Formats: sequence, structure tokens, C-alpha cells
Amino acid sequence: MKLEYMIKPFRIGNVEIPNRFAVTAMVTNMCDKDGYATEQYIRYHEAKAKGGYGLIITEDYAVNAHAGGYARVARIYKEDMIEGHRRMVKAVHQYGTKIFCQMYHAGRQSNSAVNGGAPVKSATAQACPWNRQMTEEMTIEEIQQTVKDFGITARNAKSAGFDGVEIHAGNGYLIAGFLSFTQNKRTDEYGGCFNNRMRILKEVYNEVRRNVGDDYPIMVRFSAEEHTYDGRTLPESRMIAKELETWGVNAINCSNGIYGSYNLAQVSVAPQGHAWTSSNAKALKEVVSIPVMAVNSIDDPLMAEQLVAEGTCDFVGMSRCSLADPDMPNKAKEGRFDEIRPCVRCVQGCTGWVVKQIPIRCCLNPELGNEYRYTFDDQPESKKVLVIGGGPGGMQAAIAAGRRGHDVTLWEKNSKLGGELLAAVCPPGKGEFASYIIALRKQLSKLENVKVILNKTASAQDIIAFGADKVILATGGLANQPKFLGNRDNVIPAREILLGYRQVEGRILVAGGGEVGIETAMYLAGGERGEITVVEMAHKMAEKTDQTRYIPMRRFLLDHEVKLMNDTKVIEVTDTDMVVEINGETRKLQYDAIVVAMGYHPNNALQEQLSSLGDKLVVIGDARQCQNAMEAASEGFEAGYNA
Ligand SMILES: Cc1cc2nc3c(=O)[nH]c(=O)nc-3n(C[C@H](O)[C@H](O)[C@H](O)COP(=O)(O)O)c2cc1C
Ligand code: SF4
Repeated sequence: MKLEYMIKPFRIGNVEIPNRFAVTAMVTNMCDKDGYATEQYIRYHEAKAKGGYGLIITEDYAVNAHAGGYARVARIYKEDMIEGHRRMVKAVHQYGTKIFCQMYHAGRQSNSAVNGGAPVKSATAQACPWNRQMTEEMTIEEIQQTVKDFGITARNAKSAGFDGVEIHAGNGYLIAGFLSFTQNKRTDEYGGCFNNRMRILKEVYNEVRRNVGDDYPIMVRFSAEEHTYDGRTLPESRMIAKELETWGVNAINCSNGIYGSYNLAQVSVAPQGHAWTSSNAKALKEVVSIPVMAVNSIDDPLMAEQLVAEGTCDFVGMSRCSLADPDMPNKAKEGRFDEIRPCVRCVQGCTGWVVKQIPIRCCLNPELGNEYRYTFDDQPESKKVLVIGGGPGGMQAAIAAGRRGHDVTLWEKNSKLGGELLAAVCPPGKGEFASYIIALRKQLSKLENVKVILNKTASAQDIIAFGADKVILATGGLANQPKFLGNRDNVIPAREILLGYRQVEGRILVAGGGEVGIETAMYLAGGERGEITVVEMAHKMAEKTDQTRYIPMRRFLLDHEVKLMNDTKVIEVTDTDMVVEINGETRKLQYDAIVVAMGYHPNNALQEQLSSLGDKLVVIGDARQCQNAMEAASEGFEAGYNA
């Protein structure tokens, strides 16, 4: 398959968008604390434009000092804020990409710690189940001021050179709160019947239109289905879409869900299906003639092609994939599908870091957020670089060093590149990680100055004899196997199960309920290998896993009758039983096999043996400190870049 529809230009109002690839809004936390554009923010957007996206919709610009839902969201409501954002628009325009400014007020999905210390205002006094701060109902005067604030932001956005604006009326923020009975319990002219609930959106639209003129594109994002107990569903959403077209809105961005939706419809995670909310875009498209965008877990350009070709939508929001690989559209246009680093919907670095109020990252893309400081234009003096280990950290180190023009050799002791990722692809919901390994391998193979040697076990003597200017030790971690587990044949590391080296059945105890233990239990449960119990000492399973991701994992385990025992400490293991302590009581759990997922320790024996190398040696990733693939990839890339 190749692209035909996705590369066709189309129009939103009078603006021509060069293709159908769109980035929808994503909070980056890359502006400064007052919302001024930073160099980091500018280069981040520029990378996507360079990578071939036809349309970028920025993160949600807070329309006043107290409208933000995160500490560092962008803002352009004051005159002196325009200049920085103008520089960003200019950087994007160099590549022919169009850029719209999303505007919002977070409503109840905010809290005083991030909105300038003010009370949180919303349609009705009610705490968001996620943010949990009690809010104050907006007065009529406050509504009218907020409407004006949208107009000012739109006017300034136009003055900064943005090609259009998007009014954010979805995902549970302020305007969405007025639109739906989930949040709107008002008994004045802003509550109750359809027209009343639509009133604020109509006023905002009219004010924005008044400020930007008749021929300036205005798009509206709203949630076609809210996926809450009493949230809006499609019939009313089709009414909204028709109404917007009558007003003069130029395009619709069909999102879904709000904070607190029961099924993460807003930003879906693996293993929810790809494009599973796209039929809602189709339902809206059926009742309007303005362009409609579908979005949510559409990360494959060929799937996007099919959606546009079959008339589900006119253009496609492919957002997290722009974090994982900003060059995806260009690669897809050129048929280089095997070079695309797909978003694997782990939400580890993106939404996971948004809530920490610091710049977002991506598990697969160490360059994200670092575009402003990594440059491959000027090459340093070429050095001889040796990378030991072909996991994500080692591969990223070799790629970065290779792109800097160094003479790079990578030694991997196994017959395949991938390291721990080879096991990580095996559990349900993780298959897409295989494309990550393929994309890294492909990138290595295209760098003529990088030599990969497989089946090469590195000794300290070999490494010293090689005579590299820089040695990057990326030997990863080794699974912990505490002594009390003994040395029994039926006590098996999780990795060996996931890679299919060993099979187990019967009464299976998974020792350790961190992410690896949980995923291994899912793998076993999917294959119906017997009675599975996960034993975890901590109070929570998968404690370090983003909870949005853990929710579907937990459902899978419960559906497959996997028993989860938290607060459970292993005391000893005999040939037949695992003896555990729960709330001070001792119990015996009989087993046929124990699968061990009790963490990792650095595999760094070579470090000491290589101490004579001094600062020629850099230790990265799990070999330095066991964390996760994102940290390993970032450290590897940084070490390779600075080699
Ligand atoms: C880190 C992050 C921040 C987001 N911030 C916003 C936002 O500012 N405004 C918005 O309308 N949607 C926001 N979203 C939702 C995205 O626009 C998009 O609808 C969602 O990620 C699903 O699309 P995808 O699967 O292509 O990523 C955000 C999503 C992520 C991952
Ligand atoms: S961190 Fe995970 S979910 Fe987020 S963009 Fe990267 S791969 Fe996708």
C-alpha cells in the first residue's frame, strides 16, 4: 500500500493545508512559567513541520492568567507574549506547514497550584474526579470576561501569524463543562436545554469571529462521546456539529472523553484498538459539509489513508506519533514505512510527564524536547567510538555517535539487536515495540560509519585492545534472583518465559508485581497456562506504571482470573510451597512453577575492569542504574552525541 489520499491538499476556510497529517494539541510544558515561548518550544514544533506534517495545532493556550490546567501552558493573551510565538510560527512556516492556535480555559480540570493560585472556576461548583479540587461556579460577569479573553487570545494569535485558531470545547474543560449535563447543573440561561448549554460556546465563537474577521479559519474541538455515566452521546453531538456549521465554524476536530472517562477515550493506551473512536468522526461528518478530523490512536499512516479514502474523516490527527517520530509523514510519503518509530501508546513520557509539570518526553524518541540543543549540522572531529551492548541504550548511542560522523563499532553478545526489548514485545499490548527495534536497526544499517558486530562477547582485554577514543558501556541489567528462591529448575526468570525459552503450567506463582511481573502474568494468562497468582510485597501492583495504563492491564488480569496478592512478603520457598506473610499471618502457597520478576541490578562488571580508561569510558542505562527503556535510550543518545 502507498499513500494517495493522505498527501492531497485540502482547505479549512480559505487556508490550504498541504496534506492530511495533523498534529492535535498536546501540552508540552516547554513554555516558561508565564507561557512565553522558549527556544525549546519553538524547535519542538519546527521538527514536526520539517517532518512533513501539513497542520499543527498547538497546545491549549490559556486565555488568561488563571485559565491553565498545567503550570507551564502557553499563553498569548498579552501583547508582549506575541513575539516569541511569532518566531515559532515563522519556524513552522519555513516548511509549508500550517499552524493553528488552540485556546482554552481548563475549568474544573485545573487546580490552584497550577493556575496562579486562584480559585478554580467552572460551569458548576463541582470537583473533577481527577483534579479533586472543589470549584466555584462562574458568575455571569466572569463568563462574559472569559468570552472576551478568548477574543483577545484569538486576535493576538492572528497577529503572531497563526493560520487559524481552534476553540477547545472538548475533553471536559470549561466550555465542555457547560455543554454537558455531566458538569452543567446550572439553572440560569447557561444551563438546561440544548441552546442554553451551547450559549457560552456561541458567545465565544462570535467574539473570536469579531476579533479575527470573516475569512480567518476557526475550528472547534469537542468530544463526540464523553464516556461518563451521564455524558453526552452521539445524537446530541451531531446536533452540535450542525449548529457549528450554521454559525460559520470552518472545521471540526472530533475528540472523545473527558478527565475521568471510564475508558480513557481521550488519550487511549495499548491495548485499546487503533482508531477505535474514528466512527464518531464519521457520524459527525455525515451531518456537515465542513472538514472533520478523526483522532486517537491512529498511528499508522496506512490506516489513516484508509480512513480518509473510505470517507470516515477528511484529515487525521496523529499526535503522539509526532512525539515518537516527527518525521513520520515524510517517511510515509516516501514509502519508508519500516523506518517509522511508531508510538506504542505507553504514555510513559508524554502524559506521564505532563502531570509532573515538566517538559514531556517520549519513550522512543530521545530527541524530543532536545531539538534545540542537538544539532547534526556541524560535525565534531571524528573519533573512534566503541559501544558495548545492542539494547535500546546501546543502539541509540551508536546512532547518535554515527550521525555526528564518528567511526562507530557496536558489539552485541547475542545474535540479535534489541536487548531487553526483545522480551518486552511479547506480553499482550506490547507487540508494537517490535517496530521500534526494526526502526533502530534500519537507522543503524543506513549509517555507513557504524559497524554492528553480533555474537561478540566483550572482555576488558578486547575493549582496551580495540583502542577506542570513547567506550560506551550499555550492557544493561541482570534479573534479580534472591537467594531464598533457591536454585530449582521450576523457578524461572520472567524473561525466559516471555522469550519462549521455557514453558510453565499448573499452579504458577509470579514473584513480583511490578510492570514486568504484571505483563508476564498477562502473557501467561492469555495462553491459559493454569492458575496464576501474582505475589507483591508493596501495597500496590505496578506501582511505577502510569495508572492510566495499569487500569486496562488490571481488567485483563481480572477477566482472566489472575489472583493478585499485594502486601505479601515472601519468607521462604520449599520444593512445594512458597511461604508468605500477609498482615502478620503466615500462609503457604503451593506451586508447580515460580516465575521471577523481582527487578534488575546493573550488569556492570566490566566497569571496574576498565577503570584505566578514565573519562574515555561512559556507563549508561541499566548498566549504570536500572530504570527503564526511556532512560536507557536517552542516556545512550546523549552519550553518543557527546562522544
Ligand atoms: C502529552 C499530551 C498532552 C495533551 N494535551 C492536549 C491539549 O493541550 N489539548 C487537547 O485538546 N488535547 C490534548 N491531548 C490530546 C491529544 O490532542 C490527542 O487527542 C490524543 O493524544 C489522542 O491522539 P493520539 O492517539 O494521536 O495521540 C494531549 C495528549 C497528550 C498525549
Ligand atoms: S511516550 Fe509512549 S505513548 Fe507517549 S508518545 Fe512516546 S511512545 Fe507514544
